[in-house]
Parts: sequence; structure tokens; C-alpha cells
Amino acid sequence: MDFASDRGIAGRIDAATGGRRLRRLRQHDWTRRLVRETSLAPADLIWPVFVRDGSGADEPVASMPGVVRYSLERVVDAAREARDLGIPVLALFPYTTRDKRDERGSEATNLDNLVCRAVGAIKDAVPEVGVMCDVALDPYTSHGHDGIMRDGRIVNDESVEILCRQALVQAKAGCDIVGPSDMMDGRVAMIRDALDAEGFRDTMIMSYAAKYASAFYGPFREAVGSNDLLKGDKRTYQMDYGNTAEALREAEQDIAEGADMIMVKPGLPYLDVLSRLASEFGMPTFAYQTSGEYSTIEAAAANGWIDGERAMMETLAAFKRAGAAGVLTYFAPRAAKALRAA
Ligand code: PBG
Repeated sequence: MDFASDRGIAGRIDAATGGRRLRRLRQHDWTRRLVRETSLAPADLIWPVFVRDGSGADEPVASMPGVVRYSLERVVDAAREARDLGIPVLALFPYTTRDKRDERGSEATNLDNLVCRAVGAIKDAVPEVGVMCDVALDPYTSHGHDGIMRDGRIVNDESVEILCRQALVQAKAGCDIVGPSDMMDGRVAMIRDALDAEGFRDTMIMSYAAKYASAFYGPFREAVGSNDLLKGDKRTYQMDYGNTAEALREAEQDIAEGADMIMVKPGLPYLDVLSRLASEFGMPTFAYQTSGEYSTIEAAAANGWIDGERAMMETLAAFKRAGAAGVLTYFAPRAAKALRAA
């Protein structure tokens, strides 16, 4: 006689599973919390903010509902908010009008440019909040590319020289972390050299190590005023989305050149790359949940198709699960508030 079949379906399932029923631990909120493998905290978040010249009200970014461009006074308020919420770092991105743009992105190396003034204002008022600045020329060039264009090509070495000067003015303004997002070859080493030579040994570098040529940057380009300026695309310097081994080589290179932290961008479509880099190199590895990822969630939520709040927390948790030390996300203040309320 078959003992298991005597006990009906329960006995047969127990016989088949060896009695291991994985749902046991999912019964209660407290058990789920008890055995959760990864966690998300406000300290994991980097808040990218857009700054603009002039004073007055926050300017909404049409393609990023809930995201605005702050004036200088307001960006200081944002830094205070970050401090109060336990968000460690703000990443600054300038909105630049056409009159401040030229072929060579000269405004990038102006010690008194908008980003430098914003860094100074934040560091004066809220020194305990970290400030990160993007190193790339696209907010400043008339063609919207991250480097110098010559005969229709983005030239590497000449771009790197200017990027070094850009990183230097940011460091002089008091920036804590420079984030080269330009994808030129050799820029991390050259920026490290330039910073050290000028006495900025403590300025950190978070390199956009694996930055893919992506459809998920669209709304950002509107936010910084590059959308209708960009000529062509960025595929001669940003990575091809078919590649993983190349991401490993990029990261290895940036680490050898002196990067303190590395980043993968975009985030959600590249969790595999994030996971590989985090486990391969053991460096603090960050994900950038980009503008397009943010707006995708917001648009679906606005239509009532998904629960935006839950999608936000689920995606941020996914980055941690994949091995991220933290996430650059436009959801930062909202997520921090939700985490504090939980
Ligand atoms: C500039 C830069 C971009 C982003 C961050 N730094 C845009 C681009 O490379 O075209 C994208 C951020 C986002 O989409 O949220 N080099």
C-alpha cells in the first residue's frame, strides 16, 4: 500500500517535495521581512537634479512628470531636503540655453558656470551633503555631443583635454565626486592626473564605466536643453547594447585608470551587466535609473496601468539585488520618504 497516496494530495506533494514548502516563509509580512535577502535604504540613493539660471519658481520638465529644474536658491533647498531624508549625494545637471553653447563647449570650463555656482551654494549651506558633477560636454555644445566634433567625428584626445579642465573647475568649486559620462578613452586616467596635479587628491571619480547608447536618455536631453540640438547619435562613443564582454573591459580599464566607483547606465535593461561588474570587480558599483526609465514608469502609472509607487520600490530593490551599492534615480526623494514611512 502506498502511504503517500493514503494521505491524498497533501501527502503526494510532501512526498514529491520532500516536505519543503517554500511558501511557509511567505505567510506573514513579518516573515517576509525577516528573511528578505537585500534591502534598500535612503543611503543607497543618489538624487540627480537639474539646475537652471535665474531665480523663481521650479520649471517642470514636461517629459518627466514630477521632475523640475531648480534655480540656485531652490537647488540649495533640494540639498537640505536630501540631508533631512538621509540621501547622501546630489548629482547636478545644468540646463543650458543656446546662447551659452558653442562648438567646443567652452562654458564647461568656466569656473563661474551654473554648475560651479550651484556646487558652491550647496557646499556653503549644506556641507554635509555630497555633490557629484557630470563630466561631459553635451550640456554646453551647440551640437549636443559629449566631446569635440571635427569633420563630423567626435575626436577623443582633444575632448579628453577639455574634460580634464571641466573636472578641474568642478573640483575647484567644491565638488566631491566627478562623474565622467562622456565615454572617451583614457579620460579617467587623465582626469585623475589633472586633479592630483592641482592638489585635488581627495576628489572622487565615479566613472560611467558601461554606458550604452540608449533610447532611455530621451527625457534627460529635454531636461538639459539638448534634445533638438543633437546631431546624429552617440554610437561612436557609447556602447552597443549587444555587448557584455566589452563592459567588463571598460570597467577593468576605468578601475586601472583610477576610478573609485563605477556605474552602469541605463539601469533596468542592463541588470545582467550590473550583476557581472559588481561580482567581477568588487568595486562600489552603481546603477543609473535613467530619465526614460523614470518616465516609462510615470507614464504607465498616470494611465492607471501600473501602481507607480510599487513599481518604483520594486525597480530600486532590483538594483540592490543585482549587486548595486546604490542607485542614481529621479525617484530618490519619493523613495526616501516611502522608506522612512515604512
Ligand atoms: C551626458 C549624460 C546623459 C545622461 C547623463 N549624463 C545623456 C546622454 O548621454 O545623452 C542621461 C541621464 C538620463 O537619461 O537620466 N553625457
